Amino acid sequence: MFFDTHAHLDDKQFDLDREELIASFPEVGVTRVLNAACDLASSREIVNLTRKYRGIFGSVGVHPNAAEELKGDAELDLLRTLSKEKKICAIGEIGLDYYWDDVPREVQKTAFRMQLDLARELSLPVIIHDRDAHEDCLNILRDYTDLSVVFHCYSGSLEFAKILIDLGFYLSFTGVITFKNAKAAPSVVEWAPHDRIMIETDCPYLAPIPYRGKRNHSGYVPLVAQKIAELWGTSVEEVARITTENGLRFFQITSDETL
Ligand code: NI
Repeated sequence: MFFDTHAHLDDKQFDLDREELIASFPEVGVTRVLNAACDLASSREIVNLTRKYRGIFGSVGVHPNAAEELKGDAELDLLRTLSKEKKICAIGEIGLDYYWDDVPREVQKTAFRMQLDLARELSLPVIIHDRDAHEDCLNILRDYTDLSVVFHCYSGSLEFAKILIDLGFYLSFTGVITFKNAKAAPSVVEWAPHDRIMIETDCPYLAPIPYRGKRNHSGYVPLVAQKIAELWGTSVEEVARITTENGLRFFQITSDETL
């Protein structure tokens, strides 16, 4: 049984067939999904998804590209309220994005710290979005090493991964590791301690080979596990077991509810 620990099934690309698609995931062994939020609207929507579907869990938070939404206490209060929902298990995705650089970096950093403080107050783990901002993410997170932290869609070097693992953080991998031009990620997977790795799709983006360029969905997460199994020299079932255990532990999910 696979756990897709980072999906965006609330995305409008799923509006026409969300229900059938989610119903099909167990056929390929995908029985749990953590749906990550991007902004305040998706945070609200995700609460609805987690109420509607067994086996779908969620996070609430504001992505760095939407950081200007997070103006102050009113927005933090909304996130705080939404986070009390039974199946909201994390704050995310939050972090820094210097690739798009849509939002001034100081605004991104402020929103990042505000939400890390919120996660600490609520004792919730955090899902980190770090795109071309490794050094600044790390500098901020050094003040929050008491939190449970996962770098989603890990894209850094092996050296950077070693620093993060030393700090107790987790790394999560998408279909990007199946791409021919995948950079450091496969060597990070080979090196990493098995108990700190999670798998995800980040759908509707980043579909693994052979679906690259098409709409991605959680039913493709076994392809990410398959690649990890090759890199570890083990079976896909073993990767499924290990990454599911890691995901349940990381997100503190004790319910045996599945899709
Ligand atoms: Ni995402």
